Amino acid sequence: MLQSEKISAVILGAGKGTRMHSSLPKVLHSIAGKPMIQHVIDAVVKLGIIRIHLIYGYKGNNLKQKLSHQQVVSLNWISQLEQYGTGHAVFQAIPHLLNNEKVLILYGDVPLITSSTLQRLLEIYQKSGIALITAKLSNPNGYGRIIRDSHGKIMSILEEKNANVQQKRNIKEINTGILLVNSNNLIRWLNHLMYNKKDKECYLTDIISMAWKEKAPIHSLQPNSIYEIQGVNNISQLIQLERIYQKKQAQTLLSLGVMISDPSRFDLRGKLLHGKDVCIDTNVIIEGEVTIGNRVFIGNGCMLKNAIIGDDVIIHPYTLIEGAQIHNKSIVGPFAHLRKGSVLEQEVHIGNFVETKNTRLGKKSKAGHLSYLGDAEIGIAVNIGAGTITCNYDGANKHKTTIRDNVFIGSDSQLIAPLTIENGATIGAGTTVTSDVAENEVIISRIRQFPILNWHRPTKKNKNI
Ligand code: UD1
Ligand code: CA
Repeated sequence: MLQSEKISAVILGAGKGTRMHSSLPKVLHSIAGKPMIQHVIDAVVKLGIIRIHLIYGYKGNNLKQKLSHQQVVSLNWISQLEQYGTGHAVFQAIPHLLNNEKVLILYGDVPLITSSTLQRLLEIYQKSGIALITAKLSNPNGYGRIIRDSHGKIMSILEEKNANVQQKRNIKEINTGILLVNSNNLIRWLNHLMYNKKDKECYLTDIISMAWKEKAPIHSLQPNSIYEIQGVNNISQLIQLERIYQKKQAQTLLSLGVMISDPSRFDLRGKLLHGKDVCIDTNVIIEGEVTIGNRVFIGNGCMLKNAIIGDDVIIHPYTLIEGAQIHNKSIVGPFAHLRKGSVLEQEVHIGNFVETKNTRLGKKSKAGHLSYLGDAEIGIAVNIGAGTITCNYDGANKHKTTIRDNVFIGSDSQLIAPLTIENGATIGAGTTVTSDVAENEVIISRIRQFPILNWHRPTKKNKNI
């Protein structure tokens, strides 16, 4: 679509979402790590629409803050201080609409609408009429129902709360809320909307019967898939859509050759770039931007967030990786925690219960068990013994530990930073290193072992205690 074409989108997001029982505005609840309303914005942007009006209300500042980093468009924020219904919400946009433009109206709580279905809506739209997306559902509970006249033409929308038992049961065609309408007509119809007597709300859906009375062309289409139009009014519907979306993402990855052991136990909350022969075991979560090379195995229960992983890397189960970079042929985990700024060069081994932060390990270096390595620069082929800790924090400031090539750190050592250990040095097990260690030096700080003569283990005297 040409961007010069006169069209704007109005996205409704002012509602509190009472049925969510949450303090977070409903449209900020996420699907795949992205707020629902951002999904809608992205679909609109993909269509090429650049004028987007966002109706906000409940906890508006929260919403503004969360959505302030739009990459492609800037949003026009329109406040609806009190929420008197969807008609009242769109009414707030009137001063911002251009003369005779197309207006695409979407709900922030119908998050998975695709740009290809919206594109079809643009195609069926006839000037001066209304084009809307409807769907036939076996269980239409919770949605407004489409009423058609004797010629099969859409005549009005009946909100569920105003429908009788028979209407609720028999009418399976529902209103998705998404529609396209000419701005001049929209404004005219909005000006005639009345508050509903029952709930004192002003329904946008009432413009349909006004259009029908004027014999304006009302066309409808069905979405490509039902999940696209599913609304979220409660947490149960939210997690249902989350699963649908995750399975869809998993299927796409499978079709590209990524081996996902169980698509129903996989979560991608962001973007995954991958090479060939990647194997992802069950219950893995991938967040933010993650790049995985060729022939990588990711074990059960791992979480990878904003990470870059090279070729032939093995990540054993229950490993958490955040803001880290792992080069080719490294092996990590199980139960490892690589935090922000961790860089593992080629063939590094990080074993169980090892935590790294802002630390680089050179080629072939190893920290096999139970260590904390923070703010450290570690050279090539260094062995970090079990239980080694860099004491990088003095209670006020962080300090750096530098360990050069071929250093051997014995088990249970504490390295009190700032500190440099030069090439080839050896630190005996149990040493507390407090000052720099020279090249090839061997140091040890532990009391000598001595026997206690004639000592006997105590024996239990009173068995009742
Ligand atoms: C609405 C439709 C219903 C449709 C369903 C589809 C109306 C009257 N009903 O019902 O026909 O089947 O969506 O999911 O339109 N909002 C505001 N300001 C308000 C009220 C709502 O911005 O004053 C926003 C909400 O944040 C939400 C959207 O509008 O994003 C829909 O509101 P909601 O109360 O969820 O409407 P439904 O009862 O689902
Ligand atoms: Ca809704």
